[in-house]
Parts: sequence; structure tokens; C-alpha cells
Amino acid sequence: MKFFIDTANLEQIKEAQELGVLDGVTTNPSLMAKEGITGKQNILDHYLKICELVEGDVSAEVIATDFDGMVAEGEELAALDSKIVVKLPLIEDGIKAAKYFSTKGIKTNVTLVFSVGQALLAAKAGATYVSPFIGRLDDISTDGLNLIAEIRQVFDNFGFETEILAASVRHTMHIVDCAKIGADVMTGPLSSIKGLLKHPLTDIGLEKFLADYKKGNA
Ligand code: G3P
Repeated sequence: MKFFIDTANLEQIKEAQELGVLDGVTTNPSLMAKEGITGKQNILDHYLKICELVEGDVSAEVIATDFDGMVAEGEELAALDSKIVVKLPLIEDGIKAAKYFSTKGIKTNVTLVFSVGQALLAAKAGATYVSPFIGRLDDISTDGLNLIAEIRQVFDNFGFETEILAASVRHTMHIVDCAKIGADVMTGPLSSIKGLLKHPLTDIGLEKFLADYKKGNA
């Protein structure tokens, strides 16, 4: 499973990259705003900075909601760097734009996916990634992980190459469960990735190894 980090924070992206497990970055307008990145040129410059830090795909979301606007914006984003993946909302014009970009060989990430039917449409349009939001489904008492499992089944039934990118990952167990179900990619905060490191028996074991070494090497 690929690990993407879901942030526009350069320090966190750098830290995840240095850990050696990062396959890419996802952003969205809310995450850019959280970092205080506003204005078109500043946003484009920020994407370039992210691309310099990582080796993998960097999802950059369009703001337009009409086909022509999405195509214009997406082409501008894609021209920034070959790592850019054009992120499109799952609305009618977003599906049309995903089809357009797939015929042009430009990678897309269709976002705000909350049902199997939506994921199927994105796959049919040739999206590179489809992003079901598991945390936001959990927030409304609906099983987000179950959506990942159902999309996995449908994509496998027909051999769709669209990758399932589990998004709105909120914690470490979401990552573990997504891996068990067979999500191709997960995108989450740095804290959820670093949570995978933790086990008390590792800490206790290391403490004992070091104490025993010290006894024999005082
Ligand atoms: O990848 C989508 C993500 O940024 C949404 O996460 O926590 O706002 O639901 P969240």
C-alpha cells in the first residue's frame, strides 16, 4: 500500500519524506488555507515547493466547478511539474474533466467520494485515483472502511486500474484496516503514520537491551 501524507505543511512533508516511507502528498483547498497559502501565484509556488520535497505524486485540487474551468485550471497545475495529479470533485463536470485528462495522459484524483456508485463512475472515466473519505463517513455513523471494501470488490470484479486512495484517514488503525482491506493508497496526517511505530513492548525491550549492554560494558 502506498503512503501519502494529507497536508500542505512543508515541515511535516519533509519529516515524512525523511522517514523513508512516503509515496506522495495530497492537498485540498482547506489544507492550503490552514497553512495560510492564499492567492493564485502563492498556491502555485507552494505546489512547486511540495514537488521539490517528494518523489511521488502530488495531488493539487482545482477550484473551478465547471468543465472548461476545471480543464484550464487542471492544465495549468499539471504543467507545473510531472508529479502533479489534478484533483477533481466528484460532480458531473468533474467526471467529464477526469475523462478529458485521462485521454490526455494527465493523472487525476477524483475526490469527495462517498459511495460505490460514485467510485464506479470515476473509474469508468479513467481516473488514476478515486478518493473515498472514510473519516467523514465514520463521523455520520456510517462505516467508512466498509465503503473501501465494497469499492475494492467492484474494481476487482472488472479489473479497473483506478487506484483506491483511502482519504480522510484520521488515525493509525484506519491505516492498518485499509491495508487489510486492500486499499491501494492511504492518505493521512503525519501523526497517523507515526502511530504505526508505537508498541510498548518495543520500548520495554529496547530499554532492557540497553540496560543489559551497560551492565556488561560499564
Ligand atoms: O484527503 C481528504 C482529507 O483531507 C479530508 O480529511 O479529516 O477533513 O475529513 P478530513
